[in-house]
Amino acid sequence: MKISKALEKQNKERPVAGMTGKLDDHLYMYHMPYSYTAEQIRKIRTQIFHLSDRPIPRVIMVTSSVPAEGKTIVASNLAISIAKSEERHVLLIECDMRRPSLYRVFSFPRSPGLSEIIQGKASIEDCLVKTPIDKFTILPAAEVPPSNPSELLESRKMASVIKEVAMRYNDRFIILDTPPIQATVDPKIISSQVDGIIVVARYRYIKRADFEAALENLPRDKIIGTVLNAVDEIPATKYKYKKYKYDKYY
Ligand SMILES: Nc1ncnc2c1ncn2[C@@H]1O[C@H](COP(=O)(O)OP(=O)(O)OP(=O)(O)O)[C@@H](O)[C@H]1O
Ligand SMILES: [Mg+2]
Repeated sequence: MKISKALEKQNKERPVAGMTGKLDDHLYMYHMPYSYTAEQIRKIRTQIFHLSDRPIPRVIMVTSSVPAEGKTIVASNLAISIAKSEERHVLLIECDMRRPSLYRVFSFPRSPGLSEIIQGKASIEDCLVKTPIDKFTILPAAEVPPSNPSELLESRKMASVIKEVAMRYNDRFIILDTPPIQATVDPKIISSQVDGIIVVARYRYIKRADFEAALENLPRDKIIGTVLNAVDEIPATKYKYKKYKYDKYY
């Protein structure tokens, strides 16, 4: 049974961002569009839209070498920033099927996504999650993370669903939030479907060797930039010192 019918039957509401609480504080583009950090995110967006050596990338993947460098937060803020500034819609796709986190960041009930689409349990349309942000929609990774998946096979199927989504919504910008490169083969396989790659590096956290090793796994010509996510964890200075720095990768 397709999800919409299943939801109807259970009399469940379709998930919408903000349904289970407030949106994460780190969504600066939403909560604090005039903050210093939001300004840095706008700069990243401007640079992506003015690359001298290529057309504007439409399908953009955000990744990093190791876990917790800020991929999800950077991808989400970037997606909101594009939705706010461009005429076109933005679709944020969560590609970490094993550890979904967008439902927490955007406060919606866990709901079907890429994994259920791959298994034929849901259609793409049924999985889209609306948000309070105009022209901005989310496709989550999974309601139930796949158990014991054959990684390579699962990864390939995910890449083909991403290809299908990108073709179906060919008038939208698509931002892909992926798992870390060192954890799975997913980013490498997904990279075949994208126009541009942004690599997030958490300041004073990532070792240079790990960063360089991770880059070896990506098609260099698709890397459009690195975001240095410099995080100060002290709450009192929370917003003051957080910086996103964008560098063209050489
Ligand atoms: N610029 C920032 N300032 C403050 N906190 C941040 C910043 N970026 C990320 N964080 C926090 O760091 C943690 C990890 O961020 P996030 O989930 O975006 O990382 P990730 O790279 O997506 O992690 P994973 O590898 O688990 O997917 C979260 O608690 C997030 O709120
Ligand atoms: Mg993440």
